[in-house]
Amino acid sequence: MRNLIDIKELTIEEIEELIKVAQDIINNREKYSHKCDGKKLATLFFEPSTRTRLSFEAAMMELGGNVLGFSAASSSSTAKGESVSDTIRTVGCYADIIAMRHPKEGAPLVAAQKSVVPIINAGDGGHNHPTQTLTDLLTIKSEKKRLDNLTIGLCGDLKFGRTVHSLITAMSRYKNIRFILISPKELEIPEYLKKEVLEKNNIKWCETRDIEEYMGELDILYMTRVQRERFFNEEDYLRLKDYYILNKEKLEKAKEDLCIMHPLPRVNEISTDVDDDRRACYFKQVEYGKYIRMALILKLLEVE
Ligand code: CP
Repeated sequence: MRNLIDIKELTIEEIEELIKVAQDIINNREKYSHKCDGKKLATLFFEPSTRTRLSFEAAMMELGGNVLGFSAASSSSTAKGESVSDTIRTVGCYADIIAMRHPKEGAPLVAAQKSVVPIINAGDGGHNHPTQTLTDLLTIKSEKKRLDNLTIGLCGDLKFGRTVHSLITAMSRYKNIRFILISPKELEIPEYLKKEVLEKNNIKWCETRDIEEYMGELDILYMTRVQRERFFNEEDYLRLKDYYILNKEKLEKAKEDLCIMHPLPRVNEISTDVDDDRRACYFKQVEYGKYIRMALILKLLEVE
């Protein structure tokens, strides 16, 4: 039985295969509409979500399966003190596969050790978000037609941004990738990622505070939200929340085929005047998320 806790658990070949299946689903929706007849997906969300939970649910429904679950810890027996392990053993009696989001880093890994059905990490604290990364990879592959030879700007909260951590880990395995890390000093990527991923894989990278400094060199600009829920101190959040606001003016030097991405939700970091720019890919990214999750459910349930 396979789980997906960290994007590293998938080989490059497996990711290629998932992307291929997702692209086939996009082109042949009907062919997949009964693949999961009689199967159930549980979505256990101990932390808020719109896209991840609903795209998992839509994905399972489009495959012909059913969904159950909860969208807040407060509406489950967690509120009475039940442990993650006991919750998982219980839900394993009702569902064939579980997608789980939790504010504690490592909680999905603990769940996977107790589970009798596959567990998908749908985001654990400031750690990882592997299915967002699969979404991002499908978006990049579909929009740029390649996953190598890319200069990728990552901007905003690179310290707590789990989507950034998973994306750096995944993209570091492809050829000729260069990262431009754009953040305030306080929100730089964690040291372990610099040492264990960037340096270990001889990846070209640099840091800047200025979103415009490398704008003309970027193939991808991946914006992220400064996340209020990860700060211990409200004052720090208020000081940093509007550090970067991407608008039309800041895109003046950008390439014509730049792909602007954002895992969403957005607060202020992309001005709405960018939404109509043909380089804005973040709502397409949302849609790709459903298709790659359909491909992932098929893989983990071992459906042909
Ligand atoms: N991208 C993402 O994880 O969005 P949600 O928090 O809405 O699920």
